[in-house]
Amino acid sequence: MNSIFGPWQAEMSLATRAAEDAARLLRDQFSRDPGVRKDSEKDIKTEADLKAEEVILKLLHPSGLPIVAEESATKVKPGPGPCWLVDPLDGTLNFVRGFPATAVSIALWEGESPQFGVIVDLARDRVFRGVVKSGAWCGDVPIRVSTVKERRQAVLATGFPSQTDYTDQALTTFIRRVQRFKKIRMVGSAALSLAMVACGVFDAYIEEGIKLWDVAAGIALVKAAGGQAEFASGRLPWSLNVKATNGWVDE
Ligand code: IPD
Ligand code: CA
Repeated sequence: MNSIFGPWQAEMSLATRAAEDAARLLRDQFSRDPGVRKDSEKDIKTEADLKAEEVILKLLHPSGLPIVAEESATKVKPGPGPCWLVDPLDGTLNFVRGFPATAVSIALWEGESPQFGVIVDLARDRVFRGVVKSGAWCGDVPIRVSTVKERRQAVLATGFPSQTDYTDQALTTFIRRVQRFKKIRMVGSAALSLAMVACGVFDAYIEEGIKLWDVAAGIALVKAAGGQAEFASGRLPWSLNVKATNGWVDE
């Protein structure tokens, strides 16, 4: 199967190893006690996030490519060349509470274009990988977006990032949006939500103000699985407004 990773074969192997090693560390050493470091307002940070990121950075570093990772203190804007985007633990609150929607997420982007993504579903020990214009897999099994065409039959995954505007006006806009779908799901991991769109479990994902590292691999995965993804810069640094769908369902 490896040849289908095309020009990214070496980078894909590296990213897969890094994501799997981080996932192993999170499961083996931190599932009982994630080591909460900061629990303020709507955000939570743990020792687990930091240690998983350390493992990933160590493995990706020899590639020589710039790395933007959630927990790193300084983040350098990537240039037009290839760059890693890393979330060592997506769904930190879920991890702390023992809710099984948690993931490690690593993407390779070139400028503004997602190239490939690797997402490890921690609870189910599944590895999702997708290379844009090539294909997407869960383990070795090819995956594809759903064929649901009508919004009233579609399941929308969404979420409230930590800096969400909870004013009545903003929430009314949110309600109007979700009313149009059959159901909504807010699983607390943007990476897994997108992986679920990529394999046809959900039909669309929309989130505003989500951080780039939360969604980078998932966006690549949805595109690689035959879906569509649109994203634009959000209000805050590193945030994006994202819409990813099976290519049929529209807002
Ligand atoms: C969070 C998850 C969640 C989203 C939040 C993110 P984190 O990521 O992706 O689904 O709604 O905005 O912050 O902080 O657990 O990596
Ligand atoms: Ca995270």
